[in-house]
Amino acid sequence: MDFSGRHIMSIQDFSRDELEHIFKVASEMENYVKTGSDILKNRILATLFFEPSTRTRLSFTSAMYRLGGNVLGFDDPKMSSFKKGETLVDSIRVIESYADAIVIRHTIEGSVTLAAEYSNVPIINAGSGTLGHPTQAMLDLFSILREKNTIDGLTIGILGDLKFGRTVKSLAYGLANYDVKLVFIAPELLRMRQDVLEDLSEAGKSIREVSELDEIISDLDVLYVTRIQEERFPDPSEYEKVKGFYVIDRRTLKSTKEDLIILHPLPRVGEIAKDVDSTKHARYFKQSYYGLVVRMALLSLIMS
Ligand code: CP
Repeated sequence: MDFSGRHIMSIQDFSRDELEHIFKVASEMENYVKTGSDILKNRILATLFFEPSTRTRLSFTSAMYRLGGNVLGFDDPKMSSFKKGETLVDSIRVIESYADAIVIRHTIEGSVTLAAEYSNVPIINAGSGTLGHPTQAMLDLFSILREKNTIDGLTIGILGDLKFGRTVKSLAYGLANYDVKLVFIAPELLRMRQDVLEDLSEAGKSIREVSELDEIISDLDVLYVTRIQEERFPDPSEYEKVKGFYVIDRRTLKSTKEDLIILHPLPRVGEIAKDVDSTKHARYFKQSYYGLVVRMALLSLIMS
């Protein structure tokens, strides 16, 4: 399977076979986390982050270093020529001669796709407005696979900000490749977008929507929790209505399956209490580690 030179724009561009190939390579990459490798020696990755990030930017950076490559870029566009009014397209035309692939996180939907149209090197979408975050979905699927040994046959609850959250949309589309039951858990204000629901229905997925976690928690094999994203609400008073709507703590987990796993793309801001961290259900920090090996796999596949 050849991924060389391929842009990573959307999880919907990847078939189940392709995802499984990436997961196989990610498992192989675990051999290099401690020892390092020179698979990407003399290769350079550019990281252009127009929005804050800890995991995505640093795991791509770490992945590159662990494979023997180098990284350049910025995490504060005010310190680049964007501040002087340079367009994204002009910047890409320049940066493509400095780097062999470019990771971009941008506030505006469509901006990363536009960059890919003008780039002669692979562009990786690290989050674009409220739409996709494909590499997060890949690491989420990989986390489920590694922690449950399967994705098929599971009942998966996706909870929180389903309206503005980009990770939940990409994950839902990624899960559409598998035989799963999906439960979307959100307050009325933050329900999953209708177009996504229609796409999933057309793909034959069984979907249930609820607002109370208690209603379905005992059915779940995986609970994927997300932050309610204050920064994406056009009207701050709407945020106040849903702030703190869900808090998962040890009491919440009293009636779960023994082997329920809890994932979260992170950062969390109170929706999972710290007392959950030491339970057998908590897998969100391991999930961040899986992000490293999945990104090592992606970089090696598109740049080598
Ligand atoms: N999960 C995720 O995208 O985290 P960051 O915003 O820290 O990159």
